[in-house]
Amino acid sequence: MIPIAKPYLTEEEAQAAYDTILSGWITQGPKVQEFEEKFAAYTGAKYAVAVSNCTTALHLAMIVAGIGPGDEVICPSMSYIATANAIRYVGATPVFAEVEPDTYNLDAADAEARITDRTKAILLVHQIGMPADIDAFKDLCGRYNLKLLEDAACAAGSAYKGAKIGSHSELVCFSFHPRKVISTGDGGMITTNREDYYNRLKLLRQHGMSVNDRVRHEASRIIFEDHVELGYNYRMTDIQAAVGIKQLEKLDWIVEERRKIAAAYDQAFKDIDSIRLPQEYDGYFSNYQSYSIYLKDTAAVSRNTLMQKLLDRGIATRRGIMNTHRETAYKEYATDVSLPVSEDLQDNSIILPLYVPMKQEEIKFVTECFTQEVLAVTMSKSMLQPD
Ligand SMILES: Cc1ncc(COP(=O)(O)O)c(C=O)c1O
Repeated sequence: MIPIAKPYLTEEEAQAAYDTILSGWITQGPKVQEFEEKFAAYTGAKYAVAVSNCTTALHLAMIVAGIGPGDEVICPSMSYIATANAIRYVGATPVFAEVEPDTYNLDAADAEARITDRTKAILLVHQIGMPADIDAFKDLCGRYNLKLLEDAACAAGSAYKGAKIGSHSELVCFSFHPRKVISTGDGGMITTNREDYYNRLKLLRQHGMSVNDRVRHEASRIIFEDHVELGYNYRMTDIQAAVGIKQLEKLDWIVEERRKIAAAYDQAFKDIDSIRLPQEYDGYFSNYQSYSIYLKDTAAVSRNTLMQKLLDRGIATRRGIMNTHRETAYKEYATDVSLPVSEDLQDNSIILPLYVPMKQEEIKFVTECFTQEVLAVTMSKSMLQPD
């Protein structure tokens, strides 16, 4: 069976976790601080704050950006549901905008058309690792005096116009879930260039506590903490951070390996007319967290047939990225929503296996099976519906 994804974890990560467990400090201590400093240096951001996952990162980013009840935040519906959930956590309303068909990322013109007097921010997603056009959204947010937040859950190691994702705007949130390019089991990180945001994020992730455990531990005089505002327990453990440090050292290499597999898929599928491959334009650098193919000439039923045929041959695939407004939890946000591009991409895209290390024979097997099956599905469809 060829899986859709696998985390790349080695003896090194296992040893780092082992050493940390025996070190006597297992949550939000020296390893978390080291991971934060190294992650900030890697992305080029001034500061990084580690948290329990990207969903909690997004929640805290909403709070420090000052978003609350009555505000609207524009975001794609075509994203993992956590993107929109974070907006609802602070009592604000997600307003769904359309994505571009070739990049799967938010369409700036469509987003602009949905701005109202209540719009407070835009939550940009770098979908499956492909950077969105950050400058277009910076310009838009500048013109309408909106906050720009980035959901970079999938984009560790990706870059935009030569600079790593994480360095471009005030609040950028990452995920280290096992489905992502590097993993700490679960985990998240927020990068920022603003010292005030950095300090508030550190407070909020630990119950709003004025003095953290390490400071008290290392103090030679007694210190009593105060809880200065409503906070949360969104801590990352030192065990996770120790794994994260080792993963970060491998990140550029992992991305290069992923890009080689993506290039092999590009090459193998370039002459198949009925599909559209991922598009990486000049200035955009994807970590290829996923490789998603759009089936131009088939209806959803054919896509599902294709997925089943590949599964029958031992290849796991996934359907296109979900549309949040179609989920039951979003019934009340789905009235009057028209997102034909997003829905079409969800219904007619297929995500292929991509992980490190993927053996040459596995890549060959996937490319051969996909080519045979996609041609068969497309042909049977054209026989059913002759133009
Ligand atoms: C775009 C996006 N945002 C947010 C998340 C949530 O990340 P986490 O699972 O770390 O909370 C994910 C995870 O799949 C995601 O893909």
